[in-house]
Amino acid sequence: MAEQRAGWKSRTGFVVAAAGSAVGLGNIWRFPYVAGENGGAAFILIYLAIIFTVGFSVLLAEQAIGRAAHRSPAGAFRVLKGGLWPIVGYIGVLTAFFILPFYSVVGGWTFAYVWKTVVGASVDSAAFGGFIADGWATVGYHALFIGVTALIVLGGVQGGIERYARILMPALLVILVILVIRAVTLPGAEKGIAFYITPDFSKLTLDSIHAALSQAFFSISVGMGVMITYGSYIAKTEKLAGDATWVVGLDTGVALLSGLAIMPAVFAFGMDPGQGPGLTFVTLPAVFAQMPGGYVFGVLFFVMLSLAAMTSAMSLLEVVVAHVTDEFNCGRKPMVILFGGIMFLLGIPAALSFGAGKEFLIFGKTVFDLMEFISTGILLPVGAIGISLFVGWAFWPKAGEELGGEHGDAPSWAPVWRWMCGIVAPLLILWILIAAL
Ligand code: TRP
Repeated sequence: MAEQRAGWKSRTGFVVAAAGSAVGLGNIWRFPYVAGENGGAAFILIYLAIIFTVGFSVLLAEQAIGRAAHRSPAGAFRVLKGGLWPIVGYIGVLTAFFILPFYSVVGGWTFAYVWKTVVGASVDSAAFGGFIADGWATVGYHALFIGVTALIVLGGVQGGIERYARILMPALLVILVILVIRAVTLPGAEKGIAFYITPDFSKLTLDSIHAALSQAFFSISVGMGVMITYGSYIAKTEKLAGDATWVVGLDTGVALLSGLAIMPAVFAFGMDPGQGPGLTFVTLPAVFAQMPGGYVFGVLFFVMLSLAAMTSAMSLLEVVVAHVTDEFNCGRKPMVILFGGIMFLLGIPAALSFGAGKEFLIFGKTVFDLMEFISTGILLPVGAIGISLFVGWAFWPKAGEELGGEHGDAPSWAPVWRWMCGIVAPLLILWILIAAL
């Protein structure tokens, strides 16, 4: 079984695919508005602290589990230890059903914005509000997004994801840097830059720490087993920590740059940084309108954003598909179609949450907000607790040896990682979860 499993084409295959999964709407669409709603710089500091300690540790834990077992999540826990541990894998698969539907709705918005910028349609804030309230349009674009994602997953992971991500990621970075330069030189940008870099710790509530934790896991794609699945394709000769450093570094770089492209524009144009999910879609078109060649950059930006969203969405669908094909021996193709279809249906109420379904509230939240909250706010942190406990206790000391690859021993810092996974991360996550809920 292990011998037949496909591997990444090149040494950097994992980094490229994992970064493709990590870098997505979470960095460019979600990070700036969540930071905006939670007071800016102070939130960002907490976010960075979480990413480089807990986030990094859990990412490495997922990689080690995946490569050691050469299986998708539930099977990996079963092969390595058994008992109740596979439940952690099942929670991961369940999580995909809460993330992918709303993710695809926003992915659909980005598709729509490619079209709108190409034809030069109005993309101001009123136009955005009108668009997301239009159920036919949002459900249609959501269908298109999930359809295209499923098509690529149909073709298999390696050739598709590895090849796309290698070209897209650098291109996205270049465009982002250009946008940042334009945004920070807008007249009136100083206030936005100040908001972004001057921490005001009085704004930091437990809720915002919880928001930073949720955003951290969401952004680097950990807590549900994507990195277990992708890690299962890593060659035994690789050392894992270098890969994890790259993924976390790239992901964080893109998130910080996105905020720096958006916040100055928000203040320069007198908008509200706490306006929620529409932030990117409203502020960036205003920046494009102010720059020479703005038309071209607008189109390019939304094309890249759609593609970045797709490489992330693929990883979400892949976890479910890898699970059912590994566990039940089903054919890959019918499963991609079946679960792509289910994700489409689940996404319909999320797509309608800004229009016809706006009044339909569960626990005071729209379906879109509820899916986002249950997945990022609860399921990802719970999954991360399970994964880190597993590495710190059930799978120790083998987990440490796994880091070094087949030739190396456990690196000298492995005990630090063990305590991060075994004690610090689970307690910290648990505390934040309980305190915030
Ligand atoms: N990380 C992606 C983003 O930032 C979203 C994502 C893809 C994800 N796969 C995931 C989030 C798995 C959590 C778990 O857009």
